Amino acid sequence: MMDQPTLLRELERCDRRMTALVEDLDDRQLDVPYQPGINPPVWELGHTAFFFEFFLLRRLHGVKPLMPGFDPVWDSFDIPHRERWTPGVVPDKATTMDYYRRVIDRTLDHFASGDGPGREGRYLGQYVIAHLCMHIESQIWCRQTLGYPPPSFAGADQGSPLNPPPPPADPGGGGPAATDDAEVPAGRWFIGMPGARPAWEAAEFSFDNERPGFELDLPAFRISRRLVSNLEFLGFVEDGGYDRPELWSFGGRYWRRARSLSHPQYWRRPASGGGWEQRRFDQWQPLDPAAPVMHVSFWEAEAYCRWAGRRLPTEFEWEVAARGDTNAPLPWRPDSVPGGDEAPADLGARCLGSAPVTAFADGAGPFGCLQMIGSVWEWTSSQYLPFDGFCVDMYAYMSTLQFGDHKTTRGGSGATEASLIRSTYRQAYHPDRCDVFTGFRTCAL
Ligand SMILES: [Fe+2]
Repeated sequence: MMDQPTLLRELERCDRRMTALVEDLDDRQLDVPYQPGINPPVWELGHTAFFFEFFLLRRLHGVKPLMPGFDPVWDSFDIPHRERWTPGVVPDKATTMDYYRRVIDRTLDHFASGDGPGREGRYLGQYVIAHLCMHIESQIWCRQTLGYPPPSFAGADQGSPLNPPPPPADPGGGGPAATDDAEVPAGRWFIGMPGARPAWEAAEFSFDNERPGFELDLPAFRISRRLVSNLEFLGFVEDGGYDRPELWSFGGRYWRRARSLSHPQYWRRPASGGGWEQRRFDQWQPLDPAAPVMHVSFWEAEAYCRWAGRRLPTEFEWEVAARGDTNAPLPWRPDSVPGGDEAPADLGARCLGSAPVTAFADGAGPFGCLQMIGSVWEWTSSQYLPFDGFCVDMYAYMSTLQFGDHKTTRGGSGATEASLIRSTYRQAYHPDRCDVFTGFRTCAL
């Protein structure tokens, strides 16, 4: 669990990011068109402030409402998604920023005061900062969805070997990579985080969906050391993969009919000739063959696997490959602590998924798998379900609404903050979604 100085530093850092994500959009850009996968950026700002106020300031410190009467606007379970676009419902940018500022400043004061927060306060503090991190990521994918510029804090490594100049215009045809699999032996593995009641008594922070951990016997399996690259996925596209029904499951064929795509949604091949391009935020760029394929749905990942004679890992196989038999929250060292700028991974808008799939060798997991953490959320074959013995945490809807009809994704993306992610972290997306930062790796059949 984060200590007091780390809580303060993380809140200050994430606050700067959330503020920047709203501040550099003008009124015209903030007037976003309705889309089911995004929220108006000003609503997200007020919603994240409300989360701090409701779960921390009011609950632990008895602070009176800082924007009386507005709970039903900022509480995502009171306001239907469509209504967030209704004129007059969400206050303007200046009013909402003022509310957000007052909430965050009060929180910083509480974190800094006296001996700092107790154990429960530090748990709640990490919880609400994690929620802020989730909305930093959703604000970033909102920019990708709308074709807005990337966040101002993105690309801290511009010009480094991790962010190389654009590749040649036509990378040529791809194909399934020569096998580069890690061999994971049969064994009994620990999955998830130990349960504790109350949750803040646990040694390490976790969400309810990671608990209670359990032991699991797994047969040996082989999993790719690298994420599937654009070049590899291009082989599937150029082999007519989207138009071959035998490669798609029932759900995948349904998705295909609805979307009428013959390639990932942010790819194009200009009619005027030239090579494949990909849209990254507000820029169409030559498709980078070395980068991981991104913004693909579960169904596209599944069809690619069938074409390549591979399969998706289960979420448990993924976790074992990332963690082995250690208790390491991060793959690259047993004593690693979430957060920190030194993470050998594409996190925190460092490369936003543009690093080659061979990068970050010093962040390899115990079996040699690269980029298990960061770069892209990885689809698994697992339906998102509670572990046996699951108990809801203080916020009952953090996990429960997605149980059953979502697929588990693991590992975080380039838009995920380093302090949020760990090898046991379970995210869930609906299998139809390709607007978020999703990619995948494969296992041998
Ligand atoms: Fe939220």
